[in-house]
Amino acid sequence: MGTKQKNNGNINHDEEETALSYIIKSLEDSSMACEGAHFYSHMPHTFTVFGASGDLAKKKIYPTLWWLYRDNLLPKSTKFCGYARSKMTVAELREKCHQYMNVKPSEQQLYEEFWSHHVYVAGNYDQHADFLTLKEQLAKMECGSNCNRIFYLALPPSIFEQVTVNIKQLCLSESGWNRVIIEKPFGRDDVSSKKLCDHLASLFHEEQIYRIDHYLGKEMVQNLMTIRFANRFLNSTWNRENIASVLITFKEPFGTQGRGGYFDEFGIIRDVMQNHLLQILSLVAMEKPNSCHPDDIRDEKVKVLKSIPALTLDDMVLGQYVGNPNGEGDERVGYLDDPTVKENSNTPTYALGVLRINNERWEDVPFMLRCGKALNERKAEVRVQYRDVPGDIFQGKNKRNELVIRVQPGEAVYFKMMSKRPGISFDIEETELDLTYEHRYKDSYLPDAYERLILDVFCGSQMHFVRSDELREAWRIFTPVLHEIEKQGVQPIPYVYGSRGPKEADKMTKENNFKYYGSYKWHGKK
Ligand code: BG6
Repeated sequence: MGTKQKNNGNINHDEEETALSYIIKSLEDSSMACEGAHFYSHMPHTFTVFGASGDLAKKKIYPTLWWLYRDNLLPKSTKFCGYARSKMTVAELREKCHQYMNVKPSEQQLYEEFWSHHVYVAGNYDQHADFLTLKEQLAKMECGSNCNRIFYLALPPSIFEQVTVNIKQLCLSESGWNRVIIEKPFGRDDVSSKKLCDHLASLFHEEQIYRIDHYLGKEMVQNLMTIRFANRFLNSTWNRENIASVLITFKEPFGTQGRGGYFDEFGIIRDVMQNHLLQILSLVAMEKPNSCHPDDIRDEKVKVLKSIPALTLDDMVLGQYVGNPNGEGDERVGYLDDPTVKENSNTPTYALGVLRINNERWEDVPFMLRCGKALNERKAEVRVQYRDVPGDIFQGKNKRNELVIRVQPGEAVYFKMMSKRPGISFDIEETELDLTYEHRYKDSYLPDAYERLILDVFCGSQMHFVRSDELREAWRIFTPVLHEIEKQGVQPIPYVYGSRGPKEADKMTKENNFKYYGSYKWHGKK
C-alpha cells in the first residue's frame, strides 16, 4: 500500500463520535454527498457480502472492512454478514482472509472484536428459501431496530440478476436506506450492459446503485480534479493550442496468474481500457463542473464522452504475450500456455487505442489509452505532452514539456521541463519539477482504493462511482470495435513476456504526435 502509515493520526476507537461523522460533515459542507447521506449516523448498519468465500472477498473486501473498522471509520454497531454457497463457519472464513488482513500484534484485541460482529450464511443464489434464511439472519443481527443495509455483490455477472431480485424481494431494510455495490464487468457490450442496467433500474433507484471502478478510488485519480481546476497556470494551457497528445498507460509485469478463465472471456480492452483508462481520460478531458457535487462532475464526464466517436480497428494495436524462453519462472509461460485459457485464443492481453475528442478544447489532440499484461514494469500514469516551443533558439536541443501524473507505484506529479545545465556551461537539459508523495508527504496515510470507495458508500457519496449514462457512453465507444475484433477473429501481435509490448504500438504513438526521446529518466521512479 505504498506510503501507508500507521493511521489517520488521532482517531481513537473510544471516541463518542466516529471519524466517519467528521468525513460526512466535510462531504456535506462541500456539497459532495448525495441525497440521504445524513442518514448514516445513529442507526445500525449491516454489510452483506455475497460471494463471501471468493477471491475478491478474501483479498479485498474483508481486509478493507477490517482496516475501516480498525481506524474507527465505520458507523458504530455495524454488523457484517457473509453469504455464499460453500458451507463454512465464521472461523473458517476468518482463516481464509487472514493472510490479507495485515494485523499487528497490538491490534489483536480489536481484531477479535471485529470478527465478533460477523455471521455467515450458506445458501444458493437462486433459492428463495435461502434468502429467507438470510432475511431472518439480518433481522436477528439488527435486534429488530431500524437499520441501513449495504449489499456487496462480489459475484460473477451471470448471477447478478437472480441475486438482486432476491435482495429486492426479501432482504431490503424497510426502516433505513439500502445500497447495492456491484463490480465490473457491467456487461460485455452495449446490449448486455443495457440489459443489466435496465434490470437494476427496475429494482433500485440510481442513488442506491454503486458501480465500483476501483481506479476512481486511487489517490492520484482523485487528485486529477484538484490538479486541473485549482491551478491557474495549468488550467490555461489545458487545450489544443498547447497540448500535443495525451498518453494514459497501464502496465503490469505479470500475466494472467490463474485468472486466465475470467480474462480470456473479457480481454484487456474490457478488463482495463473500457473502464479504468476511460474513467481517467474523462477526468483529464472534461470541462470544469459547476461544483464538486457528484452529479455535476458526472454530467461533465458524460458530456466529454459524448464527444468521442466510436473506436475503429484502424485506431488500435492489439497484442498477446508469448513466453520468454530466456526468462525465469512465469516469464517462460505464454498466455496460450495457461491451461485455463482457450486453445488458440485470440484474446488480446495488450491494447493501444487512439481516441479523438471532437470538441473545441481537444479537436486534433490524440488521447491514447495503452494497457497490457506481462510487460516490462508495473506502472499506471497519465502523460500530457505539450507541443514544441515555436521559434526554437536552442539548435533543436529543446524537448517537449510533459506533465506526468503517476498513479502507481509511487504516487507523484512531475513536470518535465528544460533548464540550463548548472555551472559554467550554457547547455540546456531535461529536468523536472517534482512532487513525489513519498518525499513531500512522508507521514500521510494513503488509503487503499477500496477503503475510500466502501467508505463513500456508507457516506452516500456517489462521486467516485460510475453512473449508468457514463457506462452507456463507454460501451458506445468500445462496442463496435470489440464486435469487429470478434467477427474478424483479429489475431493479436505476439510480444515477449517482460518486453514493452508490440513495436507497432510505439509506431502508432509516434504517428499520433507523441515524441519519445529516451533521453530522460525520472529519479523518483521506483
Ligand atoms: C482489475 C483488473 O480491475 O484491475 C485486473 O481486472 C488488474 O486485471 C487490476 O490486474 C489492476 O488493479 P491495480 O489496482 O492493481 O492496478
